[in-house]
Amino acid sequence: MPYAHITGWGMAVPETIMTNDDLSKLVDTNDTWIRERTGIRERRIARDHEFPSTLGVEASINALKVANVRPTDLDLIICTSSSPEYIFPATACLIQDQIGATKAGAFDLLAACTGFIFAMNMAAQAIRSGSIKTALVVGSETLSRFINWKDRNTCILFGDGAGAFVLQASERPGGVLSAVMHSDGSGGDSLSLPGGGSHYPATEATVHEGKHYVHMDGKEVFRFATRVMASATLEALDAAGLTVEQVNWIIPHQANIRIIEAAARGLKLPMDRFIVNLERYGNTSTASIPIAMVEALEKGQIKSGDKIVMVGFGGGLTWGALAAEWTGPIPSKGHVRPEQYRLAGRLRSVVRRWLRFIEGLLYRREL
Ligand code: ACO
Repeated sequence: MPYAHITGWGMAVPETIMTNDDLSKLVDTNDTWIRERTGIRERRIARDHEFPSTLGVEASINALKVANVRPTDLDLIICTSSSPEYIFPATACLIQDQIGATKAGAFDLLAACTGFIFAMNMAAQAIRSGSIKTALVVGSETLSRFINWKDRNTCILFGDGAGAFVLQASERPGGVLSAVMHSDGSGGDSLSLPGGGSHYPATEATVHEGKHYVHMDGKEVFRFATRVMASATLEALDAAGLTVEQVNWIIPHQANIRIIEAAARGLKLPMDRFIVNLERYGNTSTASIPIAMVEALEKGQIKSGDKIVMVGFGGGLTWGALAAEWTGPIPSKGHVRPEQYRLAGRLRSVVRRWLRFIEGLLYRREL
């Protein structure tokens, strides 16, 4: 049975920075409160031309470069987002088209902030089963578009960005060792974005009632998160046959520093074993774990052979953890330039639209 190794990683964040002081001009809040209660100092906000697909494409190209893998070698793309570009087509298909991944099947996975863990597990399982060899997992968000900038309970927390991992099959032991996935739909209303689906399709009333914004019972989510972070980590470690002492790094969902501190207490681990960067990005939902990991990898914190656990929670309610042994890129020959496929992909996309148009004309004539 092949192993599923994480061989490439990339991230992309918008340039625009919104500080806590900027927020204090919009709602009754202040830098001290936000830093003390959440640990966040600033977050990135997407500009008008930035979307989950554009940020996701940038992160994906970076990840493919690290892995030295061509977009045409990808068998599968899973995009997970709490702010997908459309209900359909899937953001994963937009990314597949824009990077020129002509062979890949692509779909979106919806599990709120836990999405990245669930998507990584699905991609790893597909590789472990032998049905595919190479997968791309993307977490990408422009959640700022769904935030009520008059609601101080939510607007201080979230930010935009994307992270992507390449997973590849290898006979060498290591890579993804185990994963656990959990859900409790009875808590769905404590964190939701009710508008725009088929229950509350967009109408003047739904807009007026603010149904297209993120709604959150902060205290309820806080209590739930502090309960599940440590337990999910222990479950994943147990399934991988590892102990907490053997873990080099925990990469938690970057929601609130107090939630991460509670997890550290629960696991009896010092905070310096946790990768934390939420002070600069806030909660980027499905992108928070890969963004934190990419920064840690670029700083040289995570090294080959390290045992790591990614752990997250989110709307649904959902929570989960994934244990892995870090290996890094698989040695390969030649130098792949994934950005060139992006240009070819754009051209291919235009040609295919034209072909479909011509096909339509011919088909109509036959009727
Ligand atoms: N600025 C200043 N004061 C504020 C703010 C603010 N932004 N927000 C609340 N307060 C006030 C409250 O009114 C309250 O005042 P009072 O004591 O006079 O009544 C006081 O500060 C304390 O408010 P709490 O709501 O008790 O604050 P708490 O410590 O619970 O922090 C927070 C709120 C940050 C939202 C916290 O509950 C939290 O982080 N919850 C988890 C949220 C989360 O992680 N969500 C993402 C999930 S992932 C996904 O799927 C998207």
